[in-house]
Amino acid sequence: MTVRWSALRSRAVGAFTGLRGAGWLRGPTLLGLLALVALVVVVLASRSRPVAQPVAFNHVKHTQDLELGCEFCHQNVNTGARAGLPNAETCSACHQEQQGNSAEAVRVTTLLAKGDPLRFNKLFRLADHVYFAHRRHVEIAKLECSQCHGAIATTRRPPSRPLTRVNMKFCLSCHQAKKQSVDCVACHR
Ligand code: HEC
Ligand code: HEC
Ligand code: HEC
Ligand code: HEC
Ligand code: HEC
Repeated sequence: MTVRWSALRSRAVGAFTGLRGAGWLRGPTLLGLLALVALVVVVLASRSRPVAQPVAFNHVKHTQDLELGCEFCHQNVNTGARAGLPNAETCSACHQEQQGNSAEAVRVTTLLAKGDPLRFNKLFRLADHVYFAHRRHVEIAKLECSQCHGAIATTRRPPSRPLTRVNMKFCLSCHQAKKQSVDCVACHR
């Protein structure tokens, strides 16, 4: 009787610790899986979605061949926080009448005649909790657009993703190199 009882007990204890062992295992495994799923979701979400534009705009043609300054279309780039994007009014200055013979240029004139607002979509975008001013960097610090935007001025079609990755590390590395503010509140207001 005593032998049996102790055997039973040891088996029960064995089963219990086995279960507990499995429980301990199951906990971290589940957590690990959840963490992995969360990581994948974060990585996927942070990969910017492709940006589409109403017209296949050509920077080279306008900035190099026609020698238009950036501020012709990005009107507040020297004076404001946001550079701004052009719209139908800006393009009408020339495309109200047909320019050149390319199919896309003909389409622009047709769209304008129909009253299309030509709403271009933002490509580079910071979260709302970050304060960034173009005036400070372009007019005062005299930085080149390409330092942050890459070779956008030499594109012949609108890129669907930003050409450079502008994140906190990117801002901080220049601020550290140029001995500028790295205070959290300078950028997060
Ligand atoms: C100062 C005049 C001017 C302004 C302003 C202007 N364009 Fe043009 N654009 C031209 C000329 C000239 C051509 C034709 C060049 C050629 O065919 O060699 C052209 C060509 C184009 C083409 C054809 C490009 C290609 O690859 O063949 C597109 C698309 C275009 N423009 C869109 C726009 C849009 C959109 C705007 C407004 C954001 C705009 N343009 C503003 C003068 C202008
Ligand atoms: C004739 C008008 C015009 C001129 C001049 C022009 N751009 Fe643009 N820019 C556009 C249009 C239209 C878009 C949106 C479509 C695209 O990305 O091609 C754009 C988009 C951009 C973007 C992406 C903005 C965003 O949404 O995040 C940058 C950066 C940019 N331009 C830089 C420049 C620079 C630098 C110059 C001068 C070297 C310049 N542009 C001159 C019309 C212009
Ligand atoms: C120090 C980095 C930096 C420099 C230099 C810079 N930009 Fe930007 N630009 C940005 C950032 C960051 C954004 C996104 C801002 C946001 O979403 O709040 C942006 C956004 C833009 C946009 C999208 C529209 C808007 O107003 O948000 C345009 C157009 C643009 N920049 C044009 C230019 C041009 C043209 C130059 C040069 C004359 C230039 N930028 C120089 C960092 C820079
Ligand atoms: C390539 C260098 C460079 C990059 C990249 C850069 N900055 Fe700056 N930033 C400067 C310089 C230089 C100044 C000082 C300008 C002046 O003299 O006022 C400055 C000033 C500032 C200021 C004003 C700070 C103060 O003292 O109040 C803010 C805010 C700021 N930057 C935010 C940003 C953000 C946000 C980004 C990234 C999206 C960024 N910067 C990327 C060079 C850079
Ligand atoms: C020079 C500008 C700058 C400074 C200084 C700065 N940040 Fe940021 N911060 C950014 C930018 C840009 C982002 C990215 C926003 C985005 O993804 O659109 C960011 C993002 C963040 C995020 C969101 C998570 C992430 O990585 O995207 C947190 C949290 C944060 N910063 C905290 C801080 C703290 C804390 C400090 C001070 C120790 C600080 N930041 C200083 C520019 C700055």
